[in-house]
Amino acid sequence: MGKCVKHPDRETSYLCMKHNIYMCEECLKCPDPEIHCKFRPSCPVWFMDKRGGKEIDNIPDEKKDGKKEKEYKIIFNHENKEAIVKEGATLLEAAQLADVPLNASCNGKGVCGKCKLVLESGNVDSKSTPLLTDKEKEKKYILACQAIIHGEVIVSIPEETREKKLKVAGMGKKATEKLKGLVTNISPMLRNISLKLDPPTLDDSVSDLDRLHRGLVKKGCDTSRISTGLNVIQELSAAMRDDDFNITATVVQKKCSSEIMRVVSGTSKNRSLGIAIDVGTTSVVVYLVDMADGSILAATSGHNRQAACGDDVINRIICAEKDGVKKLSKMVFATINGLINEAIDSVGENRNNIDNVVISGNTTMTHLLLQIDSRNIRREPYIPTVSAFPILKAGNIDLNVNPVAAVFIMPGPASYVGGDIVSGILYTGLHKKEPLTLFIDIGTNGEIVLGNKEWMMTASCSAGPAFEGGGVRWGMRAETGAIEKISIDPETLDPAISVVGNVLPRGICGSGMIDLISEMLLKGIIQQNGKFSIDPTNPRYIREGDETAFIVVFADETSVDRDIIFTETDIDNILRSKGAVYAGFTVLLNQAGLDFSMVDQVIITGGFGQYLDIDKAVTIGLLPDIERSKFKYMGNSSIAGAYMALLSEDYRKEASDISNNMTYIDFSSNNDFMHEFTSALFLPHTNMEAFPNIMAELIKNKAMLNEKQLNDKFCK
Ligand code: FES
Repeated sequence: MGKCVKHPDRETSYLCMKHNIYMCEECLKCPDPEIHCKFRPSCPVWFMDKRGGKEIDNIPDEKKDGKKEKEYKIIFNHENKEAIVKEGATLLEAAQLADVPLNASCNGKGVCGKCKLVLESGNVDSKSTPLLTDKEKEKKYILACQAIIHGEVIVSIPEETREKKLKVAGMGKKATEKLKGLVTNISPMLRNISLKLDPPTLDDSVSDLDRLHRGLVKKGCDTSRISTGLNVIQELSAAMRDDDFNITATVVQKKCSSEIMRVVSGTSKNRSLGIAIDVGTTSVVVYLVDMADGSILAATSGHNRQAACGDDVINRIICAEKDGVKKLSKMVFATINGLINEAIDSVGENRNNIDNVVISGNTTMTHLLLQIDSRNIRREPYIPTVSAFPILKAGNIDLNVNPVAAVFIMPGPASYVGGDIVSGILYTGLHKKEPLTLFIDIGTNGEIVLGNKEWMMTASCSAGPAFEGGGVRWGMRAETGAIEKISIDPETLDPAISVVGNVLPRGICGSGMIDLISEMLLKGIIQQNGKFSIDPTNPRYIREGDETAFIVVFADETSVDRDIIFTETDIDNILRSKGAVYAGFTVLLNQAGLDFSMVDQVIITGGFGQYLDIDKAVTIGLLPDIERSKFKYMGNSSIAGAYMALLSEDYRKEASDISNNMTYIDFSSNNDFMHEFTSALFLPHTNMEAFPNIMAELIKNKAMLNEKQLNDKFCK
């Protein structure tokens, strides 16, 4: 609980995760950004939680009395890991130190309830929290971020906190084979050019460097704007003479010039490999590519280790400001290098043969990766340090490949529309086609592009972490054990579920939550305002604290031995997420003087879209109620675009053009956005005329429900 930022006389438990300020319910609902809640619309990622929380940065400072602080060993059972930490540290900090992957969705603010541990033994001070049920407290559950260490501790990691295999878009043979033949004219950034030079004579006495240039020209290289480092020149003479003027020159093609990176004696017989990397906030994907023909030799994916610092980009930036950007960079490079190793080992290749790399990621991810100050990304007027990057050398950035490998970072037009979206546009080709297209990538931020070959507008709206499981009691990412599909029997109200990995469920992921809300609405379990209307005698009805909830799966059918429930707060959080995304579509279309009926196609990309049921997403008002044939899912377009740029100079240029040609619309100062957002906090929307099919279905279902109730009454 805290005091409302605008009404200090009011205690409230709604916390804005970005600004770390509390807001009362009135401020929360206020549509006027200037009067009551100027923080709301300018918040690129916001997340309120009414279940409690603590101030950011109130972790006790280190002792300053000069005495040496006590240190304790913390053991994480099951993981066989341990850390030595100072008195007063939290168990979450200990887990990060021990490299134990814990779900810390809110980055230790104590409001998400995801970092649960079970205390086996030891001395910790644990704050009381409403995020743990009485049953959990009986079983000695604690929140890692709220547990202050005062002695040796042994903890175990319960099932729901464990990181498991993530379902990542762009993986599998089907996804990689789709890219076959996409790039025909292969032109890598870095080439190893084998040359047989004429040895010097008295009649041909040009310098070694000029001789090298001459050889390169013969191989089609433009040497008019070529540069050579002193280190290369220093070793040139020996390299040329070691094998009778047979050499291999490594040349990297930059935007308007080229550079000789290295010259070695002998003719290169090495295979040239490339790596395309998609650095997502949640997951990272790596493709290992044969640069000779573009075939994808291996694809690997994994959790972005930065997730230990929170689910969304704002929390990552806050973490970088607190602990230093180097920490975040190291975390993501550990993920990337681990995945490169995995890919290389799976095909028995040599990492030194990787000489071309393309990295695609949102603006925060690329900044943190390269240890670039990202603090202004989250501060008005939201300015990134860099939007177009020079071609980098792998050896300068901790990338575990050939140190001279050329690294191209996808450019991004704005702080909240980054290289991953440019990469996606490159892959979908909407910038070269006639049809008016709405491109969407939904994650913790919803990025939207509207346009065609003539023009493109882009914007980002703050979806919040709910679709990734944040702010939802049993919410989780699409990992093994996540309920991903749900349908509800209209008679018994029993859900039929499908679970990632075909195991017992331990939570619900984004697509499952959308299914659930849609089904609950259509089956009369909830009303259009998201409040429950379920018959209290139904065995799935439950009161949880002071709110009503629906039991999705009973405890004995789960792997967590507790009922998996969905509360009104959970519904509220999803409503806000979907409301922000839908408001984003509407405002962008309004800005262009268009409406949904004029959109020819809607392209959905990203991991979230993988298992999205379009009908159900329309039912809850996340997507517009237009012809279903207009929706198209195109998988992980970020990695696909990175793959294209890896192989082709033309595509790298095209990516820069896409980034430059997008007009970015900032919603933070847009009053329409707040208005549209408020209108969208309803199922599916306050303007039901915009959802004619859903309106018809709801009317039909209501009639059936009334008839059933009458029959039941009559039979009794
Ligand atoms: S409650 Fe501990 S990380 Fe969110």
